[in-house]
Amino acid sequence: MHLRVEGLTHSYGELTVLDDITLDIPAGQILCLVGPSGCGKSTLLRMIGGLEKPDAGAVMALDKPPATSLNPLTYIFQDFALLPWRTVEGNVALALEHHDITAAERTEIITDVLARTRLSDFANAVPRQLSGGMKQRVAIARALAVRPAVMLMDEPLSALDAQTRELLMDDLVGLFERTPFTAIYVTHNLDEAVRLGHRIAILSRRPGRVREVVEIDTPLSQRSMTDPALAEARDKLWNAMRREAMEADLELSDA
Ligand SMILES: Nc1ncnc2c1ncn2[C@@H]1O[C@H](COP(=O)(O)OP(=O)(O)O)[C@@H](O)[C@H]1O
Ligand SMILES: [Mg+2]
Repeated sequence: MHLRVEGLTHSYGELTVLDDITLDIPAGQILCLVGPSGCGKSTLLRMIGGLEKPDAGAVMALDKPPATSLNPLTYIFQDFALLPWRTVEGNVALALEHHDITAAERTEIITDVLARTRLSDFANAVPRQLSGGMKQRVAIARALAVRPAVMLMDEPLSALDAQTRELLMDDLVGLFERTPFTAIYVTHNLDEAVRLGHRIAILSRRPGRVREVVEIDTPLSQRSMTDPALAEARDKLWNAMRREAMEADLELSDA
């Protein structure tokens, strides 16, 4: 599904958090949102997901979600949000409750998403038996189960150690290669952004404004940190972030 965010502005009381955000999220692409802590990334994601209403501007779907989608906009959070007393399979099944599908369809979907996230052998495990990376794979399986038109991912790897983060990025690239999906992926990590983003939008410090959108044409599966195109994109992003930080310092010394 092709989403467009247009002129989105929002304040909490006196505090303006987002200022005139316009972004395109074409179907079959991952848009990474990068920006300093507190600049409004999570707020923007909540508004795109329809959990909160902006003061001004709109989030528009430019086409219909696929007919097979049970839940067009689906979240994946940093803290996994699994039910500790439910098995892996039970946690995935949770996403399918209240949807009009047969028991056979449900079983088929669960089997498929557990295989795609390499969790088939852990269907009956409970979360405390799993590593952090596996827990996040359960959360990804649960999100995939509803065949979302757009996945909204809010710093999904931030709670994981560096090695696990690498493995999960490989997993996400593998998932995308087999079945491309549309996602908005919030991170403050530039390496994640250049690894997973078809387009990367840099937000300014609060109030969040779109500073720069960088496109990377290299297919996800062919990206390596030694690729000059990636290094160039990373430099561009890093410079935008550094300018942002330096301007913030200047303002502080003016005050
Ligand atoms: N429900 C709310 N009420 C008041 N202030 C909020 C609310 N949600 C977020 N904020 C404030 O808005 C700003 C942006 O928050 P957030 O979107 O979480 O930023 P980010 O995800 O980029 O770190 C922060 O200053 C935060 O304290
Ligand atoms: Mg946040």
